[in-house]
Order: sequence, then structure tokens, then C-alpha cells
Amino acid sequence: MEQQVRVGFAFCGSFCTFSQAMEALGRVRARYGDVTPIVSEASAVTDTRFGRACDFTAEMERICGKPVIDSIARAEPIGPKGLLDVLVICPCTGNTLAKLANGVTDTAVTMAAKAHLRNGRPVVLCPATNDGLAASARNIGALLDKKNVYFVPFRQDDPAKKPTSLVADFSQVEDTIDAALAGRQLQPVLLGPPA
Ligand SMILES: Cc1cc2nc3c(=O)[nH]c(=O)nc-3n(C[C@H](O)[C@H](O)[C@H](O)COP(=O)(O)O)c2cc1C
Repeated sequence: MEQQVRVGFAFCGSFCTFSQAMEALGRVRARYGDVTPIVSEASAVTDTRFGRACDFTAEMERICGKPVIDSIARAEPIGPKGLLDVLVICPCTGNTLAKLANGVTDTAVTMAAKAHLRNGRPVVLCPATNDGLAASARNIGALLDKKNVYFVPFRQDDPAKKPTSLVADFSQVEDTIDAALAGRQLQPVLLGPPA
């Protein structure tokens, strides 16, 4: 373990990227030590072809060694108690990007972000959404310009078949956290298409 940083690690409902996010969570736990798992309500209850919600939640709790925060009420103390140094939203859906860009706070994850941002501390977004260059584009633009918000570098993951899809490079989550803690956006934030 390199350093003791209190990390919040929040899953939103991009279920096809959950295995990548879980690997990133394991690396973050190994690197920073104190990691609090958080799940959006959609992530907490939705079983999909990618796995059962309860299994993902249990795995997050096993990796972090503490229970998930899964409600607005349980996320709220993050602000007044100053519980986190950095909050990572990985994966971050188009839905949650829209809410964050527009000040909507109706999930555990958006509550965690609002509570944490009020303390002037960094939020790291790891987007994965099929409408990144469509409906979500304006929200990504707004968030790129928002104080204390940082992005895990992202790319068009399949320009030919999914021309508006954007997905972050999950292998850069830890480097993005380090940069964000130093008040810097990891660059380049915009990556070329996959090899
Ligand atoms: C199988 C499945 C895969 C999904 N993948 C994504 C995705 O990769 N990105 C995304 O933005 N939304 C995706 N969604 C839609 C979100 O789960 C949905 O918008 C949900 O309301 C998100 O809520 P949250 O942002 O609070 O987690 C997916 C839904 C399902 C059922």
C-alpha cells in the first residue's frame, strides 16, 4: 500500500463494465487502503446477463472490508463528516452524468457526489455510455468545465458500430485519482480509438 487516502468508490449501472470496474476497485483498495464502496440504487437491485446485483455488492464489500453505502440517507454524512478525500464514480452512466451536470440528487451516488463536492474535494468520473457523443455530450462538456471534477481518460470504444459510444480506460483509474488529488486532470483526457 502506497498511501492512506480515504477513497469512495461508486458503481453506477453500466453493467457491461462491472468486471472492469471490479478489477479497478481491487487495485484502488491495494493502493490506497481505505475504500468505501457505494452503489446506485439501479446497481444495487438490477440483475442482468452480466451477473446478479447481490453478487456484485458482496464482492465490493469483500474487497473493501466494509458494507456498501446504498441509499441517499447513508451517503449524506459524507459531506458533514468529511468522510472521503476523493470520490470515484466507476463506472459512471449517462444517467448519472446528466444528474451531476444538472444538480439532480436522487440516488446514493449523486448524493455522495454532492456531499463530497461541498467539501471542495475531488470527484473522478469514469464514464461508459453509448450516448457519450449524443445526448450525454453536453453533460460531459459541462462536467469537464466543473471545478473539482476530473475524468478518467476516455475514447470512442467502437467508432464503426457504436459511433456515439464513449468508454473510459479503466486501467487509468488510479493515475487519474493521483492526479486529481494533486488538483490536475490526467492527460491526454481524450484517447484515440482502441488498437
Ligand atoms: C444490461 C444493461 C446495461 C447497461 N449499460 C449501460 C452503460 O454501459 N452505460 C449507461 O450509461 N447506462 C447503461 N445502462 C442503463 C442504466 O443502468 C440506467 O440508465 C440506470 O438508470 C442508471 O442508473 P444510475 O446512473 O443511477 O446507476 C444499462 C442498463 C442495462 C439493463
